[in-house]
Amino acid sequence: MIRATIRGIGSYVPPKVVTNDDLAKLFTTSNEWIQTRTGIEERRFADEGTLCSDLALEASRRALEDAAMSASDVDFIIFATLSPDHHFPGTGCYLQKKLGVRHIGCMDVRNQCTGFLYSMTVADALIRAGTYKNILVVGSEIHSSALDFSDRGRDVAVLFGDAAGAAVFTACETLDQGVLYTELHADGEFAKALHMDVWDISRKPYLSQESIGGKEIWPHMDGRTVFKHAVTRLVELVHHTLKKNGLRPDEIKYVIPHQANLRINQMVAEKSNIPPERFLNNIQKYGNTTAASIPLLLDENYRSGKLQRGDLILLIAFGSGFTWGSALVRW
Ligand code: COA
Repeated sequence: MIRATIRGIGSYVPPKVVTNDDLAKLFTTSNEWIQTRTGIEERRFADEGTLCSDLALEASRRALEDAAMSASDVDFIIFATLSPDHHFPGTGCYLQKKLGVRHIGCMDVRNQCTGFLYSMTVADALIRAGTYKNILVVGSEIHSSALDFSDRGRDVAVLFGDAAGAAVFTACETLDQGVLYTELHADGEFAKALHMDVWDISRKPYLSQESIGGKEIWPHMDGRTVFKHAVTRLVELVHHTLKKNGLRPDEIKYVIPHQANLRINQMVAEKSNIPPERFLNNIQKYGNTTAASIPLLLDENYRSGKLQRGDLILLIAFGSGFTWGSALVRW
């Protein structure tokens, strides 16, 4: 039986550190407010002109190096982002060019904070079907150029940071290794609870002076609704994933949760009966990096030696859409 395994992992964050105190110089907020409600202490912002595909290229090179592979070994690219280089074509095509490979297929996934889990599920299915052997899955985001750094947008602006993470998924025939299980969900009923109007296709032109002058070009969020649903759905998801696979909570070595809010992850840990120290977090340093958060967290813990080959890990994410999903992986 063929399975997909993560053969290489890499990540990249831009060097510029932006602290909560730095943000407090731009609009009315405080380090205390941000840390108490989210756990975030700082995040990284890319320099102006840096694109989502630039961060993705660095992360991809590191993942390929870790896999001891070159870009020419990759059969297919899946690129998850909500902050693409351009409205179209997909950013996967730009990354393909930067990697110096041509003619392999590229696909963009627009599933926000669940983007990496959706992408790896597709990669796993394509590998299991025998369609491809080596798939590069990338999550990359430049949030800093699309945040409203005024009091109007402060609820959203404090949360997000720039980063990229990448993983090389490869076909393997070992039964108990790699991606063991995935499940994906969505509920469009709550699409407007976290959304951004730019490129509103129902209007001509998509962008007008009015929309630029107004507030439609900024992300909007009903923070309380997102928080409440995130906790409920993620707890359900953990229980369901464990039950479907006949596992007890203590059999999971680490949970790798999407990094939206430290308090969300702490509540999910408590309600799932999984000790909080098994929930790995790095939101303190990077904020919410959307599609990049899971590969970034995996890469950090793998390189530090905390995550060891053979560990059974549970990946979970919830985000705009609403979308949510899980994956069980034998690392
Ligand atoms: N700094 C200081 N005050 C702020 C602020 C900021 N950055 N943003 C909002 N406030 C103010 C509000 O205006 C409000 O003031 P008021 O009471 O005078 O009206 C007050 O703080 C409380 O706002 P509220 O939205 O009720 O706060 P909260 O406790 O719900 O926390 C979030 C806000 C955004 C931190 C929280 O709702 C959250 O994390 N939600 C989930 C978001 C998320 O995970 N998004 C990504 C999903 S993938």
